[in-house]
Amino acid sequence: MNAPPRVLILTGAGISAESGLKTFRDNNGLWEEYSVEDVATPEAFARNPELVYRFYNERRAQLTNVCVVPNAAHEALAKLERVLGDSLTLITQNVDNLHERAGSERVIHMHGELLSSRCATTNKTFKCDTPFDGQTLCACCNTPTLRPDIVWFGEMPQHMELIMESISQADIFLAIGTSGNVYPAAGFVLGAKDSGAKCIELNLEPTANNWFFDESISGIATKIVPEFVERLIKEFNL
Ligand code: OAD
Repeated sequence: MNAPPRVLILTGAGISAESGLKTFRDNNGLWEEYSVEDVATPEAFARNPELVYRFYNERRAQLTNVCVVPNAAHEALAKLERVLGDSLTLITQNVDNLHERAGSERVIHMHGELLSSRCATTNKTFKCDTPFDGQTLCACCNTPTLRPDIVWFGEMPQHMELIMESISQADIFLAIGTSGNVYPAAGFVLGAKDSGAKCIELNLEPTANNWFFDESISGIATKIVPEFVERLIKEFNL
């Protein structure tokens, strides 16, 4: 039997849109309501921490709302992980936990996680599903040093070494529900191409980076992702 293909998946906000979470750059997206410079940079946190805490406390409250549940696209990727095991690597730019709740067990969160807080002094992270702010004491040093466990603009994304290794080994690269505006994630397709991977974009509409890809599939994630997963399973007899 042939070894299964090594599949590397990068997801973005579009995969969680049908679960009721806003994307960033679509009409009515988060970056229309707030400016990146006010809530998603280290400088913003230094200047106006209250606003930054409030922004992420709101996002966390939204994510823990009972109406927000994983959708068919998250579930299809969890199924693909069960089929492919270690041959699948799932990297997400999303800070929600919908992949995990759908059953994916090895999710790489390159932009951090909403349901986590981080000590600014020790860098230790703590599971957290409630609001916190500049008065909340950190469990490791008992001082008010907690910040959102989010990678802000100007900061280094998490797990880059592991990600670069996965890119160099990929046979198939899928970018799902991401506009390709934010680097380094937007450049993963080029690395995957260099490694000889077939690169496929699955998005509501073709993105500006579309021409980097060998194939582009347009439509809503809850339709095109389950269909594509079934196609892979059939094509490779998985
Ligand atoms: P964007 O908001 O930039 O892009 C979302 C993409 O999803 C767009 O290309 C939409 O066309 C597509 N989309 C919307 N609804 C969809 C649906 N139902 N099915 C399929 N696709 C759909 O979000 P990201 O690319 O994830 O970083 O943004 C990347 C990073 O920018 C985020 O992780 C965040 C943000 O600033 C930080 O905060 C550090």
